[in-house]
Amino acid sequence: MRRILFGAMALLLVGPALGFGIVYLLSESQLRDVAVRADFSHPIDTSAAALARGQHIARTRGCFGCHGQRLEGRVFTDEWDWVDRAVAPNLAAYAQQHDPAVLERAVRQGVGHDGKALWSMPSYNWIHLSDQDTADLIAFLRSAPSIKKSLPEGRLGWQARWLLANGDEEHMAAWASKVPPLLLGPDDDAALVRGEYLAMTTCNECHGFDLRGANVESDIATPDLALVTAYSWDQFNRLLDEGLPKDDRPSLGLMTVVARDRFAYFTPQERTELYAFLRSLPSRPVPQNVSWRTTRSEP
Ligand code: HEC
Ligand code: HEC
Repeated sequence: MRRILFGAMALLLVGPALGFGIVYLLSESQLRDVAVRADFSHPIDTSAAALARGQHIARTRGCFGCHGQRLEGRVFTDEWDWVDRAVAPNLAAYAQQHDPAVLERAVRQGVGHDGKALWSMPSYNWIHLSDQDTADLIAFLRSAPSIKKSLPEGRLGWQARWLLANGDEEHMAAWASKVPPLLLGPDDDAALVRGEYLAMTTCNECHGFDLRGANVESDIATPDLALVTAYSWDQFNRLLDEGLPKDDRPSLGLMTVVARDRFAYFTPQERTELYAFLRSLPSRPVPQNVSWRTTRSEP
């Protein structure tokens, strides 16, 4: 009898620990189950032109917005509530401490310096970033002055580990593997090719991995960018500069924030090419049965 009682007590004590242990191990194995490509070996050019291009990439792809306007790092506390604490590291310091291949893996493959998948940084947004732009971005980050700022460690937390362990959330390397290939290739109109490239390395962060709208894998529903056909050239420029719609709504929320921080810096040529490509979307098929969009009507 006493032995049974002891067994039950032991189970009560050990049970929760065992549960946490299993969740921890399962989530860790998810984070470590990533395939990485061969090390990035594109030459890193440090000419003034390459550094300027790299700065433009960092600006328009949002590195400043999340890692701080001086790349000094930033803590996200309330913004992303599924994790305990996301911390965007000091990028200038990081770039000086790590090889270009490590930076490339974080940016284009969603895998951190420790070989584990990232969970907060939207690397899926840049899987199509060209080798040259990636190299210029890295050259710029390595040249940026490093501002000292003390930052806490990022922490995933039990809720997030539980979601990862049972498959309700996926890490960034998994998301990155879902982004579809580009539609256009070398035989297509060069301006449209560049327009698609820009859209698929900026707008696909929020408007669905294929730009045709998202309503599942994000807290925020975003429209199909074919909607840009309804925007005049002037209205489109206002949208990029100020993040404001063509009607009189005073704000588009997150869209307004990112436009002012990133898209206002698009060059005239980038604007023209982006506009032309987005206006060609209605003639292209909308991919069906994709996980980031559902046509199922909610009850
Ligand atoms: C939406 C916010 C956001 C944007 C945009 C963003 N980052 Fe991050 N980044 C983060 C967060 C948060 C982390 C912390 C690690 C994680 O997500 O798990 C991070 C981590 C990193 C890391 C470290 C990875 C490691 O080894 O742990 C690098 C390098 C990095 N980001 C580079 C960049 C670059 C370059 C850009 C611009 C192309 C960029 N980030 C844009 C939020 C962002
Ligand atoms: C960080 C997330 C984010 C990114 C990146 C982003 N958008 Fe948006 N966008 C949104 C959200 C959220 C809305 C919906 C806002 C609403 O309806 O209140 C939106 C709405 C829009 C709208 C609809 C405006 C209207 O008339 O209702 C257009 C057009 C648009 N975005 C274009 C773009 C383009 C072009 C890009 C890339 C250059 C882009 N967005 C990148 C979040 C984003």
